[in-house]
Amino acid sequence: MLVLTIESSCDETSAAVVRDGQQVLANIVASQVDVHARYGGVVPELASRKHMQAISVVIDEALEKAGVTLDDIEGIAVTRGPGLVGALLVGLATAKALAFARNIPLVGVHHMEGHILAPLLEQEVAFPYLALAVSGGHSHLYRVDGIGRYQILGRTLDDAAGEAFDKVAKLLGLGYPGGAVVDRLAAEGDPAAIDFPRPLLHKDNFDFSFSGIKTAMLYHVKAQSGPIQGQQLKDVAASFQQAVVEVLCKKTLRAARQFDLQRIVVAGGVACNKGLRRMMAEMAAEQGREVFFPSPALCQDNAAMLGVAGNAYLEQGLCADLDLNARVNWPLDQVGATLD
Ligand code: KG4
Ligand code: ZN
Repeated sequence: MLVLTIESSCDETSAAVVRDGQQVLANIVASQVDVHARYGGVVPELASRKHMQAISVVIDEALEKAGVTLDDIEGIAVTRGPGLVGALLVGLATAKALAFARNIPLVGVHHMEGHILAPLLEQEVAFPYLALAVSGGHSHLYRVDGIGRYQILGRTLDDAAGEAFDKVAKLLGLGYPGGAVVDRLAAEGDPAAIDFPRPLLHKDNFDFSFSGIKTAMLYHVKAQSGPIQGQQLKDVAASFQQAVVEVLCKKTLRAARQFDLQRIVVAGGVACNKGLRRMMAEMAAEQGREVFFPSPALCQDNAAMLGVAGNAYLEQGLCADLDLNARVNWPLDQVGATLD
C-alpha cells in the first residue's frame, strides 16, 4: 500500500510517501526554525501561517521525489495530535481535503507513536520493546507491545528533555533551538567539571524532572562575573548534558530490567544527542540488551515516521471520517480507544 503521510504538529511541515509501512520513497521536511529563532521559541500563530504556506509545496515535492502522483496514493496518514492546535489543523484540513477529493481512506496518527515506531522503517525490532521518547515536548517511557498497543511507564513531571536543552542553551546565549549546539560543545568539554543535580534518579518510579537542572544552571550562570566562554562554556555544556543523559539512561535501563524488556528504542529529537547515544549503548551492552536509534532524519519531526502505524491502521480498515479533529492532549495509551 502506498501511503501519503503529513506532519504539522509543531514547527516542521513535512510530507512523505511510504510503501507498505516499510519503505520510505520520499520524506520532505520544511523547517520553520529561522522564523521562530528570533523569539527564542515557537510562536503558535506564526507556525500555523507557515504551515499553510508550505504544506502544498511539501506534498508536491514528496510526490515528485517518490516518482508518483496522487493517483497512485492509496491512503493518507496525518498527525492528529498532540501538538499546537492551529498547526495540527493545517495538516488535518489538507489531509481531509485530499482524502475527500480522491476518495481514499484517511487515518489520524499519534505524534509520539510516529516517533517510537520510526526505527521500524530502517530495521527489524521485534515487539515488545521499551521506548524512551525524548523531544521538545515529551520525555516518556513506554512499553510497546505492538502497533497501537502502548503503556505509559513514566513521564516528565515538568520540562521535557529537549525543552531543558533549549532553555539551558538560551541561558548560555547559544540561540534557539540549542540542543544540537550544546551537544557539539559538550563533545569537547569535561562532563565532571560541574556537579549538576540528577533529579528523581533514586526515586522508585520511572518519571523524570528536568526543571531543577535548568534552575541549577541559572544559578551557575548568575554566579559568574562575566559571560561563560571558551573551554568553560564547553565544560558547562558537557556537565549539563551528562546530568540529563545519566538520568535518562539509568532510568531507562532500570525500567528495562524491571519489565524484562530485551530491546530498547530511543526516539525523538533528543535521540540525536551523541552523549545519549553513547551512554545508552554502553549501559545496554553491559546488561546484554539491544538498543535501537532511528537515524537523525527520522528522530527529528518528519512525516515518514507516521508511515508504520498509518499503514497498519489503513490495512485494518481503521479509517477516520472527514470530521476527524485534532487532539491537542492525547495520552498515547488511549490511541486504541480513539482511532475513529
Ligand atoms: O522531536 P523533535 O524534532 O520535535 C518535537 O516533537 O519536539 O525534537 C526537538 C527537540 C528540540 O528541543 C531540540 O533542541 C532537541 O530535540 N535536539 C537535541 C539534539 N538535536 C535536537 N537535543 C540534544 N542534542 C541534540 N543533538
Ligand atoms: Zn516530535
